[in-house]
Amino acid sequence: MTEAPELAVRLRDATWSSHQAAAGDGFLTGLLRGERSIDDYALLASQHLVVYRALETAVAASGSGLVAALHDEALERTAAIEADLDALGGIRMPTAAAVSYAAQLASLADDPVRLAAHHYTRYLGDLSGGQHIGRTLARRFGAGTTSFYRFAIDDLDAFKAQYRTTISTFGLDAEGEQALLEEAGRAYASAHALHASLATAGAEAAA
Ligand code: HEM
Repeated sequence: MTEAPELAVRLRDATWSSHQAAAGDGFLTGLLRGERSIDDYALLASQHLVVYRALETAVAASGSGLVAALHDEALERTAAIEADLDALGGIRMPTAAAVSYAAQLASLADDPVRLAAHHYTRYLGDLSGGQHIGRTLARRFGAGTTSFYRFAIDDLDAFKAQYRTTISTFGLDAEGEQALLEEAGRAYASAHALHASLATAGAEAAA
């Protein structure tokens, strides 16, 4: 009998189609193709500020061993986004989608499994495809605007491997696993909605 794949692999497999949808978002691909302006990038960074403040506040408030096992100070992005926004000329308005994403995160401070799902979706993404995004944006807008994508972590692959091992050894029961997979799906949906809101905001700004 073959063993079921470990939880980190099932999490990735269960959410990969949602990942592909979020990664293929028109706003993001347009930004990477050079079809969007530095103001559009500032708009995206401003939404990140709202989302990561909420995520990092919820993580700090959580007090859960499970979240603490996943977390590392080197992941925290709020100060990096603030520095990028200084270089980008200040904070732009958050969209309704970003505000509702942040509210979703704030509501999870007492729900470690669901908070872990968001932690994974944001930070493992930033350490993965985010590295490619950061290099492309740095070439276009200057490295002084892309601290968000740079981590004080020596070996990203080793860090990600350890992160996946931590997820796989959470010791979740079936209900906990179900909640983790479901909430990761919601996290991707929120990221998707956030990008969609920027496509509209960009169009409004251009009108
Ligand atoms: C242009 C956009 C994107 C590209 C090109 C991209 C690309 C990738 C690639 C190549 C990987 C696999 C890397 C590896 O196996 O180590 C990956 C992993 C990941 N990405 Fe993205 N990504 C993008 C956007 C996003 C977004 C918007 C999110 C979430 C908000 C996200 C979340 C993740 C996560 C959580 C993983 C880790 C999956 C796992 O191994 O469990 N990505 N991405």
